[in-house]
Amino acid sequence: MKGRVLNGMRPTGRLHLGNYLGSVVNMVELQKDYECYFTIVDWHALTTGYEDTAELQDNILNIAIDWLSAGIDPEKSTVFVQSNVKEHGELHLLFSMVTPLSWLERVPTYKEQLKQLEGRNIATYGFLGYPVLMAADILVYKADTVPVGEDQLPHLEIAREIARRFNFLYQKQVFPEPQAKLTKFALLPGIDGRKMSKSYGNEIRMSDSPEEIRAKVAQMVTDPERIKKTDPGHPEVCVPYQFYKAFSAATHEAVAKECKSAGIGCVACKRRLADVIAERMAPIHERRQQLAAHPDDVRDILREGARRARLVAARTVEEAREAMNLRDL
Ligand code: TRP
Repeated sequence: MKGRVLNGMRPTGRLHLGNYLGSVVNMVELQKDYECYFTIVDWHALTTGYEDTAELQDNILNIAIDWLSAGIDPEKSTVFVQSNVKEHGELHLLFSMVTPLSWLERVPTYKEQLKQLEGRNIATYGFLGYPVLMAADILVYKADTVPVGEDQLPHLEIAREIARRFNFLYQKQVFPEPQAKLTKFALLPGIDGRKMSKSYGNEIRMSDSPEEIRAKVAQMVTDPERIKKTDPGHPEVCVPYQFYKAFSAATHEAVAKECKSAGIGCVACKRRLADVIAERMAPIHERRQQLAAHPDDVRDILREGARRARLVAARTVEEAREAMNLRDL
């Protein structure tokens, strides 16, 4: 029997190339070997962004379009919006009863984020409960495999602990313990050399046109010691080179050689890189344009995904309710 994957993504903005290589490409691959549930977690977006929800609908639609255009296939996978499957909410509530506060308070990202997002007023119940909601996302489908980056491992550990605790308290094996499937991909830097992130404004979006790609690649930070074209370069410290490694496995070594021997200048090297990226993204852009022209079709896909997801989720919640003696009278 095929394993079952659950993956969630927060609709906090447009997806960038770091998201694409680090997560979306992997999701497309997983469809071959797993039964996949891919959900856009709008409730999770509220944990830090509840004050301004003006762009939420637009962000949800755009993530769906990015996913579908990159090759996530709604015939193979169940693609849906979290809040359209209310069972995530009910299971979250039940889990909140059995989850000790101390487990949540010791999540390393919790205190760190509280500090980092200071002005944002996230000393809230919902934010502390983030991992409980994530556990509900996963366990409501009894998913056994969760593709995550390293930063999400503590959250997944809590999902495992909640499953264990629930099964123990009610003496019934309702939930399996989900396993992390680490996505190992070197973080793509942003054009300024820091981590690629929307909050730094240094990202290249999946939806950027070839012209936008060219303009952003032109701004990328290169070896500061290479001032004249005749100076030999150091690819290890050059942002474009990181992108060559990620997007052009076949040519990155040749490029490094040309750079070190001052055989190619930065301007030409960047122009070539922009072409490499644009070429890789071209079929995705084409599909994106088609989908963006028919947003109602995309909404239909999400609605059908939610319907399918609900069939599975409702059964699990029923089991959990029964185990807790919450049967209907
Ligand atoms: N916490 C994840 C992130 O920020 C998003 C997420 C929510 C998720 N629910 C999930 C990921 C369930 C995997 C499984 O990236």
